[in-house]
Order: sequence, then C-alpha cells, then structure tokens
Amino acid sequence: MSTRILVTGGCGFIGCNFVRMVLAERPDWEVVNLDKLTYAGRLENLHDIADSPRYRFTKGDICDPTAVTEAMAGCSLVVNFAAETHVDRSLLGATNFIDTDMKGVAILLDEARRVGVGRFVQVSTDEVYGSIEEGSFTETSVLNPANPYAASKAGGDRLAYAYWATYQVPVIITRASNNYGPYQYPEKLIPLFATNALRDQPLPLYGDGRNVRDWLHVSDHCRAILFLIEHGRPGEVYNVGGGNERENTAITREILRLLGKPESLIRLVADRVGHDRRYSLDASKLRRLGWRPHVLFDRGIEGTVAWYAANAWWWKPIKDHDGEFRRYFAEQYGERLK
Ligand code: NAD
Ligand code: DAU
Repeated sequence: MSTRILVTGGCGFIGCNFVRMVLAERPDWEVVNLDKLTYAGRLENLHDIADSPRYRFTKGDICDPTAVTEAMAGCSLVVNFAAETHVDRSLLGATNFIDTDMKGVAILLDEARRVGVGRFVQVSTDEVYGSIEEGSFTETSVLNPANPYAASKAGGDRLAYAYWATYQVPVIITRASNNYGPYQYPEKLIPLFATNALRDQPLPLYGDGRNVRDWLHVSDHCRAILFLIEHGRPGEVYNVGGGNERENTAITREILRLLGKPESLIRLVADRVGHDRRYSLDASKLRRLGWRPHVLFDRGIEGTVAWYAANAWWWKPIKDHDGEFRRYFAEQYGERLK
C-alpha cells in the first residue's frame, strides 16, 4: 500500500515546493493538500502537478475539525505548514495568527492522535528564539519570541511537543531560518524587492537596513523536512539553518546588481516596531544526522531573482489586481514611502 501524506498549507510558498518535491522524489507516495486559500495560498502555485493522480487538493481550514478529519483519513504522515506567516501583518492584528498558528495546530494534533499517525512534522521557525546579538541558538536555547507572529508560532511549537510528552504523538519540530526561492508571496523582503526593482519602484528598507537574517533556499528546507520524516527522532526539535547570514542592505544591493538596477531605488523607511536585530541558528544537530544545505547562496539568489524576472505571470496579478494585496501595501507602506 502506498504512503499517504497530509500536507497543510500546500498552496503557500514552502508548502508548494514541498508538495512538488514529494511527488517527484517519492513515486509511491500520495499527497493530500489541505489549504484554506488565504491571500497567501494560491492554486496556481501547483498548476503543473494539479492533475497528478497521486495528488488531491481540499480547500479547508485547519481550525475546522471536520475538514481536518476528512483530510487526514488514511494518512500516516502529516506536515503542518499552514500558518499566518508575515510578521508585519501580525503587527496590524494578531487574532488570526493565534487561531491558525496555535488553535489550528491543536486541532491537527488531536486528529493525529486519534488516527495514530506515524509522524507529525510541525514546521516552526527560528523566530521563536527571538533576536541574538552574537553566537547562535541551539535547540535547547530559551524561547523568547518578540512579535505576535513569533509568539503564536512558539505556542504551536510547544503544543506539538506537549502532545509528544503527554500522548506520545510522534511529532518532530523543525525551526528553520529565512527561506527564499520561487513562489514566495511578494510581501516578503526578497520577492517584494525583486518585483519592485523590476518595475523601477522604490525598495523600502526598514530602519538602518543592518538587521541580519540567515537565508536558506526553500529546496534545502523541503529536503530537510523529507529527511527528518525518515530519520528524525520523535519528540525532538531540529534547527534548519542555511549558514548564510546577511544584512538586509547586502541582500538589497545584490538584488539590484543582479537586475542591473541603480541603488538609488533604495529608500530607508521607518523601522518595523520591535524589529528583531539578528537571527542565527546552530544547525549542527541536523548536520550530524546527515543533512546539509546544497544551494550556495550566490547561486540561489541569482536563480531566485531570475525566477521572478521570468515569471511575471505569477506575481503581476497579485500586485496589480488583488485588492487585498493593494490594501495591505497601502496600509504598510503608504506613509513610509511618502
Ligand atoms: P505562506 O504564507 O506562503 O503560506 C501559508 C499557507 O498556509 C497558505 O497556502 C495559506 O492559504 C495556508 N493557510 C493559512 N491559514 C490556514 C488555515 N487556517 N488552514 C489551512 N491553510 C491555511 O507561508 P510559508 O512562508 O510557506 O511558510 C510555511 C510554514 O513555514 C509556516 O508555518 C511558517 O511559519 C514556516 N516557516 C516559514 C519560513 C519562511 O522564511 N517563509 C521560515 C521558517 C518557518
Ligand atoms: O526567520 C524565519 C521567518 O522569516 C519566518 O518564520 C517568517 O514566516 C518569514 O516571513 C520570515 O520573517 P522575517 O520577518 O525575517 O521576513 P521578511 O521577509 O518579512 O523580512 C526580512 C527582513 O527584511 C527583516 O529584517 C525585515 C526586512 N524588511 C522586510 C520587508 C518586507 C525590510 O527592510 N523591508 C520590507 O519591506
């Protein structure tokens, strides 16, 4: 009998890259994708595999127990990507973050316990550790989430652990650093700046532009999750870091250089409130198991910027015709860019 995996949030950035990887690399697996199709969930992200006989899409909310029961039927594996994910949006209102990133996780875990799944991967984030001036966080570092998104993800992360400790649901928790690659919604730094630059529009760099993130190509993150389903130990947390720490200014200049655009497009704007200065992960626990990132940052960013340049069919309808995106952009950047 084939393995059936439930992927939640499979129409988002990382989820769609993961679904595609599973179908390509595990020919005897079937994928069920449960996604609410929020502004960030796009059916077109999986346009190329939508007709695969090994793929089934279900529109539904992880906060809805009935939808979760139907989607998880017959699944032995679960990977939970579904989340509200944008820090800036969590600063405009936190309640839907708490619903999906905490309550939704509990509903999935209840069903996973009832069904008796073999593995449940909770896709958490390095943001649960908060900011670090020097050195790197290990899996045993104290959690210190400092924005509503990070706090809600920390809640989901610890709920997953609690279901292992209490009921032995075989959870694995991953905490990855900043992902980049194709199909990332153009509200996040790299796709926003690449698509703005392509149109000679300003790039709104927050504060002094010197905040540091550790960049991980989405394919390396997806491969780590696939690896951990097969080699990770239940109840354990694994950091997934790219080992590519860069200041935001450096990323911004690199995008402009790759597109042959002038640095005069950079606009230093009012900072994000409570802006975490630096994220840094020690990923040696996962490396000791045998995983390592394959995509060199210089090659990865070049390929990613080229992807946005070649795939305006994907991002133009969002930026030009999606009323939700336009409302958000005006609220987030209107005053800043005046
Ligand atoms: P995304 O915003 O691109 O996609 C989120 C997906 O979840 C969308 O398809 C959306 O429709 C779906 N969704 C949202 N609420 C839902 C609900 N209630 N029920 C069902 N589906 C719902 O996010 P992403 O960047 O692909 O992130 C995926 C996961 O990885 C998230 O859990 C995020 O916290 C985590 N993560 C992201 C990064 C990163 O850099 N992007 C890094 C570390 C961890
Ligand atoms: O670290 C993992 C996290 O990375 C994930 O858990 C989140 O889901 C994901 O959104 C991401 O969070 P960040 O806040 O780090 O990503 P974002 O792309 O929003 O911002 C990256 C950096 O760029 C951050 O320091 C803020 C800055 N920035 C961002 C935007 C959107 C700007 O300077 N200007 C901008 O317009």
